[in-house]
Amino acid sequence: MIYDRITLPVNEIPKFWLNILPSLPEPLPDPIPKIGEKPCREKVLKMFESSWTKEALWQEYAPVARVRVPDEVLEYYIRVGRPTPLYRARRLEEYLRTPARIYFKREDTLPTGSFKLNTIIPQIYYAKKEGFEFIVSSTGAGQTGSAVAAVARAMGFKAKIFMVRSKYKSAPLRGTFMKLCGAEFTPSPSPETEIGRKYYSVNPEHPGDLEICAKEAAEWAQKSKFKTYVVKGSFFNFVVLHQTIIGLEVKKQLEIIDETPDVLIGCVGAGSNFLGLTLPFVHDVIKGKENYKFIAVRSDVCAPEINGEYRYDLLAPDTEGPLYKMYTLGVTTEVPPIIAEGLRHHFSSPILSYLVNKKIVKVVAYKEKEALKAGALVTGLENFIPAAESSYAIKAAIDEALKAKETGEEKVIVANISGNGFLDLAGYAQVLKLEK
Ligand SMILES: Cc1ncc(COP(=O)(O)O)c(C=O)c1O
Repeated sequence: MIYDRITLPVNEIPKFWLNILPSLPEPLPDPIPKIGEKPCREKVLKMFESSWTKEALWQEYAPVARVRVPDEVLEYYIRVGRPTPLYRARRLEEYLRTPARIYFKREDTLPTGSFKLNTIIPQIYYAKKEGFEFIVSSTGAGQTGSAVAAVARAMGFKAKIFMVRSKYKSAPLRGTFMKLCGAEFTPSPSPETEIGRKYYSVNPEHPGDLEICAKEAAEWAQKSKFKTYVVKGSFFNFVVLHQTIIGLEVKKQLEIIDETPDVLIGCVGAGSNFLGLTLPFVHDVIKGKENYKFIAVRSDVCAPEINGEYRYDLLAPDTEGPLYKMYTLGVTTEVPPIIAEGLRHHFSSPILSYLVNKKIVKVVAYKEKEALKAGALVTGLENFIPAAESSYAIKAAIDEALKAKETGEEKVIVANISGNGFLDLAGYAQVLKLEK
């Protein structure tokens, strides 16, 4: 009997997150607090003091190789379905007639729809422990917002969520999910903040984007009469740290079936699910123990590692700082809307940027239609619907499997399925013209 679904017993769940920073060949470049100033991480962390937890401020540059996952967080992880299964996509392999073995890490099985719970649970747990009274979040595709709405409610918080309007229009049920959990929900740009009004007053149907949305959330938190925690969905080192639970589980799961990966693949918005899968393996490559290939997958409309530059830049326009050393298309670049809203950033996280610059990670980009076609193929063959974002990783996995077919190699390919696409169906239908 061959089992294609590799599970880990709950007591085998990793008890520590992996911090890659001390293992990097050199320190990650420090951020710059404000335009014209010198890099200084302490000053930047000071700017975040009122809206971040002390734990997050420490974790952002933790000087230790591993950070213990609190027991309450472990319990919550298990309650929502961690460890998630590793799944062999045997029907896809047969369809492609490839000698490669394709494994999918199934973060889509988590109940709010994606891997975002891995960081939202600890973030809100620390916020509660440190006396915060209210949770605010921005969300693009709605995956962060869904996780925030659910966890905030379960931990006894009221939450306010701003969601990019264009994405809300293509996936309105994400808003319904957040409201169902009791969150206050607002499409962005909104008339509720100064920054939102700048766009809303000119065009109440303004499509919005993640940067405007994040600025609305930050302004709302700053003006709130409650001590308000602003959730971070990606980009920051401490968020990446939490996501390493993905790769740490995969390592154990591959050991169970005695497999060694050749290629590890994930889609990229700012980088946290890709890094979550790959960093435990990147660690072994840096230490000279292994030689894996890592492929970060972008949308062709925003691939800063391919079309941009590695330099200091801002995260959002009309701000003075902080600035991070990262691959960027330029902060004022307008990226057209795509169904996979979660991949639409002009920058990539400092850790990912560093690894790409050092040529440890390779980056590829795909057009929307070819990615969603790959997602549709998997829906039929493997019977789960990948999030639009995850379909980009699937497309790269298929291309690697087809290369293995040409060379006859029995390659082992592992791709992260960052989320499920039940609420992306309208997007699939629109791009693949399924109504006709
Ligand atoms: C399903 C899904 N996958 C991937 C991403 C990309 O984020 P990151 O690059 O941080 O993994 C997002 C972001 O919203 C998402 O919702």
